[in-house]
Amino acid sequence: MGHGEWRTPHLLLILTAIHLAAASTIKAHQPAFLSPLPRLSKEINRRRTPFRAVATEESLVGTANLDWEALRFEYLPTDGYCVYRYTAEKGWDDGRMEQEPYISLHVGATALHYGQAAFEGLKAFHCKDGKVRMFRPLDNARRLQRSAERLMMPPVPENIFIYACRQAVLANLAYVPPYGTGGSLYLRPVLIGSSPRIGVQPAEEYTFFVMVIPVGDYYKGGLQPVSAWVVEGYDRAAPQGVGAYKVAGNYAADLLPNSIGKSKGFPIALYLDAKENRYIDEFSTSNFIAVTQDGNTYVTPESPSILPSITNLSLMELAKDEGLDTQRRPVPIEEVGSFSEVAACGTAVIITPIDRIVHKDKTYVVRGPDGRPVGPVFERLYRRVRGIQYGEEADKFGWMVPLIDR
Ligand SMILES: Cc1ncc(COP(=O)(O)O)c(C=O)c1O
Repeated sequence: MGHGEWRTPHLLLILTAIHLAAASTIKAHQPAFLSPLPRLSKEINRRRTPFRAVATEESLVGTANLDWEALRFEYLPTDGYCVYRYTAEKGWDDGRMEQEPYISLHVGATALHYGQAAFEGLKAFHCKDGKVRMFRPLDNARRLQRSAERLMMPPVPENIFIYACRQAVLANLAYVPPYGTGGSLYLRPVLIGSSPRIGVQPAEEYTFFVMVIPVGDYYKGGLQPVSAWVVEGYDRAAPQGVGAYKVAGNYAADLLPNSIGKSKGFPIALYLDAKENRYIDEFSTSNFIAVTQDGNTYVTPESPSILPSITNLSLMELAKDEGLDTQRRPVPIEEVGSFSEVAACGTAVIITPIDRIVHKDKTYVVRGPDGRPVGPVFERLYRRVRGIQYGEEADKFGWMVPLIDR
């Protein structure tokens, strides 16, 4: 079926579902952090359909009928995104869904000129029991609040953040990859200064939106290791800079060093600390994690310039749960040769095993106890995170958040 053919009937179902879902959310058990809930947008209410199909998560998931196996980590059009506006006088508005993937932005917006912009990345999963759940959205809400404060933007309240994520997923249930395909719906919440300022000052108006993209299973045939290049001639973040915040400028600054690494044949780039150029900070878009030779200790760098990764935090909690020691401490680059497992970790793929790290003219080869670059500890932790995300393993830490409270 072509894109346009299914779009209209499915949209009706989806909007009905949003209405039903949101109504039950408002009436039903409302967790403290969701109080008070913003009203559903007028636009959605106006578009309420006369035909009241009982659409459920189960009946709508995956109806976009995409080639789920072919999905990558790339932009794809969906049925819309959720947007809120903030002004100092009125605070946050009630939010609304937009369908056209364009945003009307003042030409002098501080986001465009001075990088007053921060974002987040998290995923929603179609679980084994048929429900759709998001992985640790409250942690993303809090991290965005920290980024907002650093860039003098109004923090998005947790209830608005969670509600916006829920609305964006509910409106796009058709694009949630069905259970068993290994895919997920990636959520991208973004906060930007959207009013003009030509002197360097914070904006007066802010826009917060949550867009979603269906993404595929990165490791179809199991974990695949890659080689890393230690960036030379460029720093990622100064010790008292903005490396610990998920702000847009960090990623623009990484484009050139990252592409140099790629042109040398390295899919992933590792940054050392900017002051001494000796201690490991992190990869371009993921944290550095390692396991000691005896397999007993999970190690990750301590540095003021690292983004606090929610995946890293989760893996650490699982490592502790498995009886491993965990250490957050400075890790000099020479130490990488002594680890039995090294990996990059982040929301996009959970774990990317690293088999080789090239630093200037030195090459560190990572080999586990059995000589394989994909070691048993990270393999196990990876499976556990995925098991929890897809509802195949008990969610003993309470990480998964449903779309609708029942
Ligand atoms: C610089 C950087 N480090 C680490 C991560 C991993 O963080 P998380 O596990 O929260 O996705 C990301 C991705 O968000 C990132 O951009």
